[in-house]
Order: sequence, then C-alpha cells, then structure tokens
Amino acid sequence: MTDLARAFSAVAAERRSLRAFLPDPVPREILHAVFTDAARAPSNCNTQPWVVHVASGAALAALRETLPARFAAGEFSMDFPYDGQYDGIYKERQYGAAKALYDAHDIAREDKARRQQVFMRNFTFFDAPHVAFVFLPEPFGLREAADVGMFAQTLMLSLTAHGLGSCPQTALSFMAGPVREQLGIDDANKLLFGISFGYPDPDDAANRCRTTRAVLDEVVTFHDGI
Ligand SMILES: Cc1cc2nc3c(=O)[nH]c(=O)nc-3n(C[C@H](O)[C@H](O)[C@H](O)COP(=O)(O)O)c2cc1C
Repeated sequence: MTDLARAFSAVAAERRSLRAFLPDPVPREILHAVFTDAARAPSNCNTQPWVVHVASGAALAALRETLPARFAAGEFSMDFPYDGQYDGIYKERQYGAAKALYDAHDIAREDKARRQQVFMRNFTFFDAPHVAFVFLPEPFGLREAADVGMFAQTLMLSLTAHGLGSCPQTALSFMAGPVREQLGIDDANKLLFGISFGYPDPDDAANRCRTTRAVLDEVVTFHDGI
C-alpha cells in the first residue's frame, strides 16, 4: 500500500458526523484550502453544478436566531420532497443511526422531549462557527445532485484532514426559503443540504456517536466472470 493510500484510508475512516463545535472560527487560508479541494470533485461534463454559500459571524448568528423559531412555527419550505420513510434494511440502518445518536446522549428511545431537543440543535448548527449551504441551481436534477454530493464529501474529507469536523444536514433544507431570504440568494438556487463545520468539541456527548457500516459483500458485487 502506498503512503497516499494509507493517508487516504485514515482520513476516510476518521470522518464522521460531529454535532458539537467550539466557537473558534476557521482561519481564512484553511477555508480557502478546503473549498479548493472540494472544487476538485468530478461532475457531469465538468459542469460543476454546485453553488455554495458559507455563513459565518453575524450572518450565521442571525440565522441561528430565527431558524429555530420559524421551524417551531411550522414554516417549512423545502425545495426537494422529503418524507423520511424507509423500508426493510434501510429502515434498520436508519434506526441504527438514530440509536447511536441517542445512546451517545444517553437518551431513552421513549424520551421524545429530549430527542426533539437534540433534533432542534440542527437549527442552531450545533454551535458551529460556519455553515456551508449547498445549492443545486435550476434546472438541474438527479444527475447533477450526484455531482454536488461528490463536492460535499470531498469538502468533508478535506475538513477532516485539516483537523476540523462537519455534519451534513438535510434538516437545514427544510428551511430553504428563510435561508435564501436571509442570505439574499436567488430563488433559482435550490437548497440540497447544509454542512455545519468547525473545530469539534471533544468533551460534548454528541461527539461520542459512532455509526456502523454494512459489510462489503452486502453493498458491492464483484462480477469477475462472463
Ligand atoms: C445528505 C445528508 C444529510 C444528513 N442530514 C442530517 C441531519 O439533518 N442531521 C443530522 O444530525 N445528521 C444528518 N446526516 C448525518 C447522517 O446521520 C450520518 O452521515 C450517518 O448516520 C452516518 O454517520 P457518520 O456520518 O457519522 O459516518 C446527514 C448525512 C447526509 C449525507
């Protein structure tokens, strides 16, 4: 195995969703480095169909102030359908991930009030100093959304390599309208998800969460013969 392969595996294994951050902002040169890495992602016909807005400082403080209240008031506005319903093995994995998160917080499954409190932390960005809002411009669809996913994962791996943490959040896409309104973003940009990021808080229970993965045979089939 090459040193590069070893380093890559270490970064891929190290990345996980972190849900508690220290307030310290990420230095500008690191911000530039990680977004430059992300933009190396491949895309259909090199269209690079990602539009990213990074909110920090006062812009993020304003969102942190308004989003929880607007969500609680039922002001959802989603650009892409979402029902959160999974079946079979996908449902089992969804339950497994939820259990890992609630176990980390020491919350019993039936304690709906505390589970809701944990969920609401999505809208205060887990106290992160930065959020990347990741948009797909009209008229793009599924194929270009896959490109944007590649951008996002490259970004999160680069953040990990720089000692930073991140959490991708579909929950933020439930507030597409308010986010666009507050950041002055054109309606033609559709919000796929947000990524909260910064220096992880090593002492917060949320960051004890560890998820598992299906064994390789369950997800990859190697066709060697004819
Ligand atoms: C597109 C996307 C959206 C997600 N949305 C949320 C979210 O809204 N809130 C949250 O806490 N975690 C969210 N997650 C994190 C997943 O729960 C997490 O990636 C999964 O459980 C695997 O755990 P890991 O990232 O720690 O490896 C999201 C992940 C992805 C890729």
